[in-house]
Parts: sequence; structure tokens; C-alpha cells
Amino acid sequence: MDATALEGEARTAIDGAGSTDALEELRVRYLGRKSELKLALREVRDRETGMALNAARTAIEEAFAEREATLAAAAREELEPFDVTLPGEPVRRGRLHLITQIRREIEDIFLGLGYGIFDGPEVDTVYNNFTALNTPEAHPSRDPQDTFYVDDDTVLRTHTSPGQIRAMLSQEPPVYVVSLGRCYRRDTPDPTHTPTFHQVECLAVDEGIRLSDLRGTVETFFRALFGEEREVRMRTSFFPFTEPSVEFDVTCFLCGGAGCNVCKQSGWIEMGGAGMVDPNVFEEVGYDPEVWSGFAFGFGIERIAMLRHGFPDLRLLWENDLRFARQF
Ligand code: DAH
Repeated sequence: MDATALEGEARTAIDGAGSTDALEELRVRYLGRKSELKLALREVRDRETGMALNAARTAIEEAFAEREATLAAAAREELEPFDVTLPGEPVRRGRLHLITQIRREIEDIFLGLGYGIFDGPEVDTVYNNFTALNTPEAHPSRDPQDTFYVDDDTVLRTHTSPGQIRAMLSQEPPVYVVSLGRCYRRDTPDPTHTPTFHQVECLAVDEGIRLSDLRGTVETFFRALFGEEREVRMRTSFFPFTEPSVEFDVTCFLCGGAGCNVCKQSGWIEMGGAGMVDPNVFEEVGYDPEVWSGFAFGFGIERIAMLRHGFPDLRLLWENDLRFARQF
């Protein structure tokens, strides 16, 4: 076969190809497995013919590459003009979950007051969760219908209060700590309950700590969270680990105390339990109750989130619906 003639024919055809499809067809015809050139190469017996056919093949391959580049450049020219200075597609930034945001905010408030952060485990002993907190054997909160037991001596903590015991066992007074984290109770989910929830626990132990210190601290805390105009009030209550025990209310941040739906027309919003540390608890951790006194409180973080942002159902915090989560 005449290699030079074939090369010339191929070149003309390739240079005339108007599209990449046409070019592919030509590639099969001139370089495909059954092409004249490939068949001839297979039959080659002498060196000279071999060199001539290979030279033709290289030339044809180069012609294909050139044409391909020309067609691609032409295609690019035909595209819409592209303004590289236009702003790009915005990439949405992730964000921290609302509970994490509030948790960190609370930690900052207390760090600012000179407190330390104490992390307690979510799986704790029955002793730390109940017994050391002066909770009698028959107390209903110990019931396995209310508490997740891991075994007879171990529970998923039902509140952050066992953090008080761990903090006091690990250091000598004075103690100023907050302990925040997940808690677990066997509650059926409803608008104000989920089996997993978060609390912030506060413990201050020193010489001469009084109920007024508790009140002032909670007031400072709520003003930082809900606004400077907030007032607090205490109502008497009962918890096994405090004496006296109180519950805190804060003036409604929505209506300022006039009465609205959020505060059920009372002007006040219930925030949670607190009190002066019971002497029995001090004795349990080896602190002398004649020397040391202290206050403690424990508030729900979901409740704080719901109240501050005015959403009606705390299960929203667990559904991970971005339309909700993105608002914070
Ligand atoms: N641990 C209590 C609860 O979960 C709340 C509480 C009440 C915590 C009084 C305290 C306290 O530290 O002093 O219901």
C-alpha cells in the first residue's frame, strides 16, 4: 500500500472534519483496528515498509490532535461570553446548634464571674446522682420508671447535680463551678419534655455564702441572658440537697411583666430550682458545714432556648430541620 497517499488522503479528510463526531468517525476509518493502515502494519515483513507505515501513522495521529484542538477552541469561542468578575454561588456556612450556642454563652457569663467549668460524666453512679445528694432510698425520682439504670449502681444522670458531688470531692473549698451538659430521664416526648435534655448547674461554696448571694448571682445571670431590665423572684420549694430550697422566676422578657401568652398572663416565667446546699451534702463530701456554706441551682437549657427565642415545642431542637436550625 502507498503510505504517503494514505497519509495525504487522511489529512485532507481530517482537516475537513466539521465536528468532533465526524472526527471520531475518521479516527475509526484511518486508525481503527480494522483500518487499512493497521491491517497493513500487521502484515509488515521488512524494515522499510514498517518505517514508512509507522511514519504515516504518527503523522495521521498528529493531524487528529491538531484538528481536535482547533474544534475545541472554536467551540469555546461559541460559548456565551463569561464575566469572571461576577460574584460566585454563595456557599452556606454551617453553624453551631442553638443549644451549643447557649451553652457556650452561659459558660462565658460564669467565666466572667470567676467560676470554673466542671465537666461531669453523663453515666454516673447512683451514689453521685442520688445518695450523696441526700435523696432518700424511697424517693420517686429513683424509680426505674423515671430513671435509666445501666445497672444497680449506675445511671444515666438525671440532672447535672452529681457534678456538685464530683466537684467537691475533687477539691477543697472554696468552690465556684458551673457544670453543663446532657441529662436523661424516662419521659415521653411532648412539647416540654424529651428523654435527653441539657442543664446548667451552678455551685458556690465559701465562708459566709448567703441566700442573697444566690439571688444576686441568678439575677446577674438572667440579665445577661434575657436583658438588663429583668427582675427575679424566689418562691419556696423543696429539693433533697438544698435547705432552704427555692424556685426562681424571671420577669417575662416579652411583655416586661404586663402579662402575655409566653408568661401565661402572669408576668413571670418559671426558670428552675435552687437553694442553699444542705449540710448533709457537705458532710457526705467531707466539708465542715459549720465552716462552709454554699448555694446551688440547676436550670434547663432547652427551656432557656425556648423562652428566649419564643418557639413552642422543644422537640424542634432535635428534628434537625434546617429551616428551624438556620434561624439561630
Ligand atoms: N437537680 C434539680 C432538677 O433537676 C434542679 C436543682 C434544684 C439543682 C436545686 C440544684 C438545686 O442545684 O440547688 O430538678
